[in-house]
Amino acid sequence: MIRRFDYGTPLPTDALVKEAPLCTEAIPFFEVTAGEGGITFTHRLGKDDLIYGLGETVRGINKRGHLYRSWNSDEFSHHEDKQSLYASHNLLIFSGDGKPFGVFFDDPGEVVFDLGYTRADTASVTGVNGDMRVILIEEDSLNAIVRVFRGLIGQSYLPPKWAFGYIQSRWGYAADSEVRAIVQEHRSRHIPLDGVCMDIDYMVDYKDFSWNEQSFPDLAGLCSDMKKDHIRLIPIIDAGVKQQDGYEVCDEGLRNGYFCTYENGEPFVGAVWPGRSYFPDFFRPEVRQWFGRKYHKLMDAGVEGFWNDMNEPALFYSEAGLAEARQELTRLMDMNLGLDAFFHLKDVLMGMQNKREDYESFYHRYAGQKVRHDRVHNLYGGFMTRAAAEGLAEYEPEKRHLLFSRASYVGAHRWGGVWQGDNTSWWSHILMNLKMLPSLNMCGFLYTGADLGGFSGNTTEDLLLRWLQLGIFTPLMRNHSALGTREQEIYRFGMQEDMRKVLTVRYALLPYLYSEFMKCALTGDSMFRPLAFDYPQDPACLRIEDQLMLGGECMIAPVYEQNARGRNVYLPEDMLLVRFRSAEDYCLIPMEKGRHWIDLDLNELPLFIRKGCVIPMSRGGEWVEAVDFTDLTLLGWLEGEASYAFYNDDGMDAAPVLEKGLQTIRCKVEGGKAIAAGEGLRLDASKVIVG
Ligand code: GLC
Repeated sequence: MIRRFDYGTPLPTDALVKEAPLCTEAIPFFEVTAGEGGITFTHRLGKDDLIYGLGETVRGINKRGHLYRSWNSDEFSHHEDKQSLYASHNLLIFSGDGKPFGVFFDDPGEVVFDLGYTRADTASVTGVNGDMRVILIEEDSLNAIVRVFRGLIGQSYLPPKWAFGYIQSRWGYAADSEVRAIVQEHRSRHIPLDGVCMDIDYMVDYKDFSWNEQSFPDLAGLCSDMKKDHIRLIPIIDAGVKQQDGYEVCDEGLRNGYFCTYENGEPFVGAVWPGRSYFPDFFRPEVRQWFGRKYHKLMDAGVEGFWNDMNEPALFYSEAGLAEARQELTRLMDMNLGLDAFFHLKDVLMGMQNKREDYESFYHRYAGQKVRHDRVHNLYGGFMTRAAAEGLAEYEPEKRHLLFSRASYVGAHRWGGVWQGDNTSWWSHILMNLKMLPSLNMCGFLYTGADLGGFSGNTTEDLLLRWLQLGIFTPLMRNHSALGTREQEIYRFGMQEDMRKVLTVRYALLPYLYSEFMKCALTGDSMFRPLAFDYPQDPACLRIEDQLMLGGECMIAPVYEQNARGRNVYLPEDMLLVRFRSAEDYCLIPMEKGRHWIDLDLNELPLFIRKGCVIPMSRGGEWVEAVDFTDLTLLGWLEGEASYAFYNDDGMDAAPVLEKGLQTIRCKVEGGKAIAAGEGLRLDASKVIVG
């Protein structure tokens, strides 16, 4: 059952594609209070209640016990105490003794989620602006709540098939020759690769839609050579447009009044990589159309994918913040700085970045009104992604393009994927990556992944190797690192052969991973789910935070601890453990329901397949197009028979139809051996364990 409750005059958000029926009675489960600090919804928690949701956030899959704040932030250190990251995904799902229920707090401004932080037995959600649209979903199961929510928010973004390949990225790649060398290093060592990201250094002075013609003298030639080698280039586009006379994007934006403004109507100025910049008012359709068409320039050169960044939007400083800092510096210049003065100065300087007052100082035209930015802050990045998606679709309506963004709100999942931002080369961040996956899926973000190996800090080869062992399951699989950190391409490390072998598993599993992704995107299911969602009756599953269900048949349980040579795993039912070293080198171990210690050497990764299920595996390839999706080996453990609903398509069609791409793979045991059949497929069932 879906019900909508409106408080005050909520602004539209673009999150829902379907109308939810309005209810004028009091909302159940919550006590509602309104006052100076906004509107608050309070729910009393039972001792063992769990709370899921919130998409991209720090901490557990069960969100209970911390305070989270929806306020899209350029947050480069993902410590446990952080309240906000780059996204706002305001869905909570409460699970306790009674029927579970889901609540979506659809407010584009700041929303505070105190989930047992102030009082362990109380969850309270506060919409700071006082207006709120609440969508309440009551269903019999957690998975059903997600499916209903996903139905309301519309179909998730579909990337092209090649975007499921491995992508190499680093902040600092600055020349044609460098890109070619990176590709060459991968190809010569047979390390699979499908894409290379171009970070801000490909531009001239960090100007969007420009490229440095000294270092990239023939971008079209580079794209075409790369494409012959089955590699796509993926340039970055930032939200801020450099303030510079004669720079066409700046001139056009000013001439047409396309940028966000101060209250007096003058264009707002904030600084990002290029220094002083303007910010397109992506809320207006004509601005989206203008900005979206700018991507065509790079597409004309052969680009088929982009990442959108700094679109919270990140602000290094504003004119007002800079003036204040200058004034304080001058005032304190000749002082002997002691405790108070020194820390005050530090706060003033550090506080210039992403300053709250700056977000309160500019305006949009949205829904026919002049709206102060902070009221709609969390929508900005998603609307930038929408501008890009609309531009890309206009260029080639029949084709899918790769697009992922840093900032997002629910609704942006229809326009692009998200990566999980500037993580660190820490072991704990492998686990953080894992925990975000099911929460992001609940909110519609299926095409997602983290910077493998870690963005900031110096990675180590064992860390990267273990991280890749999780990354091979995430739809976006990208190795990305920050300027100044240790070089992180696989071929830099002694363990490169082990890493290469891990990647062969990804490419071999592509038919399964792509099939599961597409089915989930087209039906509203989650590709990654907490165990409790699939085994609600099993109390052992409720608190598991380091294993996930993957697709309809599998469970993953990666190693995420330094020097570990295995891990504890809970099997909610009998499962087949596939212990992979590579796509060719793996062993199959049937295991019973229950707790187990699994030995896993550094170069071994586990995949668990539910007993009674089979999954398809290809012979792999060094790029996605080389993978034969019709020549398949089945993995599984059977007594009687099983079928797998296999989805496949050309990987490009912008409007694929589920039924058209689906076919059934049947597998049964006959005379003590498994045999398989599927139309148009070559199937090898010799790896299916019988018994
Ligand atoms: C931001 C992005 C990061 C990128 C850097 C430079 O920090 O999150 O991925 O490398 O900007 O563009």
